[in-house]
Amino acid sequence: MRVAILASGSGSNAAALMNHFSNTEGIDVVLVGSNRSSAGVLEKANQAGVASLHFSREELDSGELLKKLETLKIDWVLLAGFLLKIPVEFCRAFENKILNIHPSLLPKFGGEGMFGMHVHRAVFEAEEKESGMTIHYVNERYDEGAIVFQGRIDVSEFNSAEEIALEVLKLEHEYYPRVAREVILDSERNIK
Ligand code: GRF
Repeated sequence: MRVAILASGSGSNAAALMNHFSNTEGIDVVLVGSNRSSAGVLEKANQAGVASLHFSREELDSGELLKKLETLKIDWVLLAGFLLKIPVEFCRAFENKILNIHPSLLPKFGGEGMFGMHVHRAVFEAEEKESGMTIHYVNERYDEGAIVFQGRIDVSEFNSAEEIALEVLKLEHEYYPRVAREVILDSERNIK
């Protein structure tokens, strides 16, 4: 299975995925793409020896990026802190083949504008007892695709949004690679 990772930021989840899949038979990360040329994730791809690609929002929206991924025979797309909306045609071309990770227990604290520290601040201000991360399929609506897995932590004793962010990120690194691997390898078994 050939995997592309799309990310907009520092790429710690992308790094965890690349690291895990470098030892996973049957899954190859063949491309890391980012809409931000300065994103740390591109450097992380270079360090891991994975091809990296900077693309513009126009290339995403016009279908240019989709064409590139099809040329590369990509089977699965993993979003790891990717901040642009995935166009409808892209979703259809990769139906049930795109996963995303979100740093809250969806459907709580999801939707447009809910990313990064915005999420953790909202969780903290709402005095939530627990938070966590959600791995879900991607469809045309932000954060509404079917949920695959949720990891939870008790945040009732936490004193800041930053503390929540740190612990949720640890959960993400722990579970995203393992869960994505299971989902991808399962889909391959079903095809055979
Ligand atoms: C993660 O919290 C992820 O859930 C969210 O964006 C953040 C990306 O962090 N979608 P990193 O770039 O993987 O370090």
